[in-house]
Amino acid sequence: MSKLLVKGRQKLGGEVSVQGAKNSALPILAATVLAKGENVIFNCPCLSDVDASCGILRYLGCRVRREGGALLIDSAGVDRSDIPDSLMRKTRSSIVFLGAVLARTGRARLCFPGGCEIGPRPIDLHLKALRQLGAEIREEHGCLDCRAPYGLKGGRVALSFPSVGATEDIMIAAATASGTTTVTNAAREPEIADLADYLNRCGAHIYGAGEGVLVIDGVPSLHGALHTIIPDRIVAATLLSCAAVTGSELVLKGAVTSHLGAVLPVFEEGGCSLQSRDGDLKITAPHRLRSMRVVRTMPYPGFPTDAQAPLLAAACTALGTTVFVENIFENRYRHTGELIRMGASVKTEGKVAVIEGVPRLYGASVEATDLRGAAALVIAALAAEGKSTVSGVKYLERGYENLETVLSDLGAEIKKI
Ligand code: UD1
Repeated sequence: MSKLLVKGRQKLGGEVSVQGAKNSALPILAATVLAKGENVIFNCPCLSDVDASCGILRYLGCRVRREGGALLIDSAGVDRSDIPDSLMRKTRSSIVFLGAVLARTGRARLCFPGGCEIGPRPIDLHLKALRQLGAEIREEHGCLDCRAPYGLKGGRVALSFPSVGATEDIMIAAATASGTTTVTNAAREPEIADLADYLNRCGAHIYGAGEGVLVIDGVPSLHGALHTIIPDRIVAATLLSCAAVTGSELVLKGAVTSHLGAVLPVFEEGGCSLQSRDGDLKITAPHRLRSMRVVRTMPYPGFPTDAQAPLLAAACTALGTTVFVENIFENRYRHTGELIRMGASVKTEGKVAVIEGVPRLYGASVEATDLRGAAALVIAALAAEGKSTVSGVKYLERGYENLETVLSDLGAEIKKI
């Protein structure tokens, strides 16, 4: 089991390229099942969640190979419609394969992804929508058997909540359904627009991605395509938090500022200065961050739930009190117990966390229990006096490409053991 050793209170500096977005890569990899033929997905991050998706693709009959930053997927040979439980459990986003496999083969058999570290992960919205497109779904013993032997039919889907995964599942399934599908209250995340962009390159007719109402004119089939994954806005927010907590100046190469619309004002509120030029984003953090008042997580374009934990870690040493309200997932403050071990003053009740900034955190041995919580502990360790050991690195590796190397190149004293 690897751990990260961090010696805190080192200033960071320099330039860093923002990796490709995990949350774009995963649904796009699932969608390649439907795009018969050769696909080349550029800027695809090397992550354990991506490896898990590749495992599912291979099982289904795809040929998958990596060349540097690109994944080459040939889905011409897809000949299975089941996904074993062991593969489903490796990544929670595996549920997005449901729409793709069903649309490609007329059947999909897989088990529920189950709950996870950050709370229950229901899929009722996915199932309701697929039923509205004509899928017959039997749920038995925690497994699903979905059939659409004569293909899916376009229809009207109104989501009661703009679920990212459900929107992606519907978009993929409807791409080759007969007729037109309209999705209202669709998720508007940049990763939705990226998936639509990829599907449209494959011959789909999807309009309105990122705008809340999606219109999908079904086409008979999709072909393979070349596509470049967008930069990861959550990794960008994490790197901004690293700069903010260490009073550093960093240049994030390739960060898309329009994807960070609700994030950047929060850093400015904390006293950071931000400059965007030619696709780069420069942050200059004050010696000590100020309180960011109230941060509420919301569906996009609101403040992203995935950036809550990294920012909360930065708020621990800010001057004043910051209040977080987590509106998306139930169980997203688990890392705060470990922050308290490092000297942070954090009180949580339900969806609210109150962070009273302290002048200093102290190095400690801490353990991560989820992906963004792991990033939060690394950020706290960067600020802490003395040495910290962060275990649970496997969570970090689900979403961050070599974070320890990235940070050590920027001047942090961090190494994996
Ligand atoms: C995606 C992201 C995840 C991010 C989240 C919210 C990927 C791979 N993961 O997850 O990093 O934190 O969006 O931005 O892209 N819900 C239901 N029923 C459903 C589906 C969802 O009740 O059928 C609820 C969930 O319990 C949760 C909320 O809706 O409370 C948001 O979930 P959703 O937007 O679907 O998130 P994911 O797609 O799972």
